[in-house]
Amino acid sequence: MPDLKIAPSILSSDFGMLNEEIASIEPFSDWLHIDVMDNHFVPNLTIGVPVLRSLKTKLFRDVHLMVSNPENLLEDFAQAGADAITIHAEIEGDIEAMLDKIKELGCKAGVSIKPNTPVANIEKYLDKVDLVLVMSVEPGFGGQKFMESALPKIQTLRAKNPELDIAIDGGINAETAKLAKAAGANILIAGNYVFGAENREEAIANLRG
Ligand code: DX5
Ligand code: ZN
Repeated sequence: MPDLKIAPSILSSDFGMLNEEIASIEPFSDWLHIDVMDNHFVPNLTIGVPVLRSLKTKLFRDVHLMVSNPENLLEDFAQAGADAITIHAEIEGDIEAMLDKIKELGCKAGVSIKPNTPVANIEKYLDKVDLVLVMSVEPGFGGQKFMESALPKIQTLRAKNPELDIAIDGGINAETAKLAKAAGANILIAGNYVFGAENREEAIANLRG
């Protein structure tokens, strides 16, 4: 299994002082998770290319595109500093072509599944992707309750793909992190648990376990 990586999600941070918020977790974190929402694929609207461009961090920028039509944004996100770009399996359009384009742009390519989407729907992409992101809440908002139905999906993916980066996103805290790791996830994305903690360093250490 690849190394464990902790990826705080800035969705739960104070957007009025994003770079200070990032600085508060940077020394303890591996990746920075950036949730892009379009109020169409999900019922919420967050940040776009200009905000990504203005982020100051040495962390690996993991961009999670919860947008219905990401195709014409991929180049802009790559130029704005994305290190990985993850698109959703549920969108319309040529997903394989988009994954190829993400890699051509020099980024790692990821595909994500919502809670009701089975692993079978992404098997055809597995030889093209660098990471799979399994949602353990309905995408759209931070601070929701972890859905255990994500765990068997991770087990299935891990059993067949020992070297794949497998991320879990939604409702991750010290307890659910244990379950996710035991199932085979190696990238733990956490918003509320990290940015809502009084001691963020300790919260991240708890996720590492
Ligand atoms: C939800 C986002 C998540 C979110 C996780 O749609 O994709 O990345 O920030 O937040 P928590 O950890 O609070 O569930
Ligand atoms: Zn996310």
